[in-house]
Amino acid sequence: MTHPVAEKITSEYQKRFPLCRERHERLLNYIPGGATRSLSYFKPWPLHISHGRGAYVYTHEGHALLDVTNAYGALIHGHGDPDVSAAVCAGIERGSQYSTPTDGQYKLARLLCERVPGFDRVRFLNSGTEATMFAMRTARAFTGRDKILKMTGGFHGTHDSVAASTKKNVITAGIPGAMTRDILEVPFNDAAALENAVSANAGELAAVIMEPFLGAGGVVLPEEGYLKRVREVTRAHEVLLIFDEIFSFRVDQGGCQNLFGVTPDITTVGKVVGGGLPIGVLGGRADVMNIYCHENTKMPLYHSGTFNGYETVMQAGYAALSKFDAPATAAVNAMGDRLQSGLLDLFADTGLNIQSTQIGSLLNLHFVNEPVTTPEQVLGSEEELHALMHLSLLNKGVFSIPRGLFILSTAITETEIDGLLENIGIVLEELLPLIREKYPHLAAG
Ligand SMILES: Cc1ncc(COP(=O)(O)O)c(C=O)c1O
Repeated sequence: MTHPVAEKITSEYQKRFPLCRERHERLLNYIPGGATRSLSYFKPWPLHISHGRGAYVYTHEGHALLDVTNAYGALIHGHGDPDVSAAVCAGIERGSQYSTPTDGQYKLARLLCERVPGFDRVRFLNSGTEATMFAMRTARAFTGRDKILKMTGGFHGTHDSVAASTKKNVITAGIPGAMTRDILEVPFNDAAALENAVSANAGELAAVIMEPFLGAGGVVLPEEGYLKRVREVTRAHEVLLIFDEIFSFRVDQGGCQNLFGVTPDITTVGKVVGGGLPIGVLGGRADVMNIYCHENTKMPLYHSGTFNGYETVMQAGYAALSKFDAPATAAVNAMGDRLQSGLLDLFADTGLNIQSTQIGSLLNLHFVNEPVTTPEQVLGSEEELHALMHLSLLNKGVFSIPRGLFILSTAITETEIDGLLENIGIVLEELLPLIREKYPHLAAG
């Protein structure tokens, strides 16, 4: 039997978003499940957005929704930023793409190498998935070893070797066993496990690949000294360290590696770096990246792609990052801090023993009754409450990510943060009867 709280929230969603249903039903005829991205689907039917401007997106029903998804982190300035839009329009008018080296590639490559400590040299690709795939290939080619160590709960995209993770409900069908045979896994934040695995496999291990904090895995932050320890262990065993900063890059001008003072050998970035257009970037130490050099390497590692270094994307990325300067980064991070401290007050006021983890402009709420430091705890968060909070926030004009992830943009001001906190407060009050009945461990005292 559905709980009355769940019934009320769902029926309100059904009444408020009838045109989404219409569009969902017609799309079902052409796209299985009516969504071309697994994460866009939710019940009773997914949201369909007509357009976006600044901090808001608009549905076909005419509802304005505060966007705290920001394209899963790809948008740093919100929707339709004038400088990024101008760069895209100019780029398309000038011919969009020429398959040669360009000034846009120079400008974006230089900016990234100047800002990110681990970038001596970079190459451009088209998605984060492609970037981590090539990061692993680069490490294997450079070291001549096959094994790669990853972290439980770490997300590196959807290519075969990393897609078969321990995430809940991840389907591993279609991935041949051979693709993961050389992938080892240890828990994030467990320095001893990492040390053991690295020393036991040192002669065969090409690299450790990890996010500096788990992003998609629930914004789980590294414990004090953990990243430095990982760096020491990998260096001591001559194993390359790959930081996947596709999600985490936005927390600091020079990425998370700059913030924590730990420089990897190889880094991948993406998302915000393309100004909202598709991009992946692979970079690292000059000697490692030299494996791609056509000028001084007899047999450079082959890396091609029709859309690599797409000039319009380069221009859009450069426009977005140029104005994502130190003050802009500090300002959006301050909005994240404001949201976090407001949420902690809210949990105390509503008498809920739930958690929120945050770094800069990224925050994850967890229906878990103890501080969250591991991916296993994130997986234990109450899914029903996440789904209802997500629907109820939509009913109140907030577009968030179903698993409780909030991603901010520079278009979001204190007014929006305070409005968001007010709405989350109303939603938590609405969920209280259900929480007290079905999830009493989350109701403090
Ligand atoms: C850390 C990390 N790596 C890789 C990816 C994959 O990037 P893309 O979706 O562009 O393929 C993501 C995407 O969310 C990510 O967060």
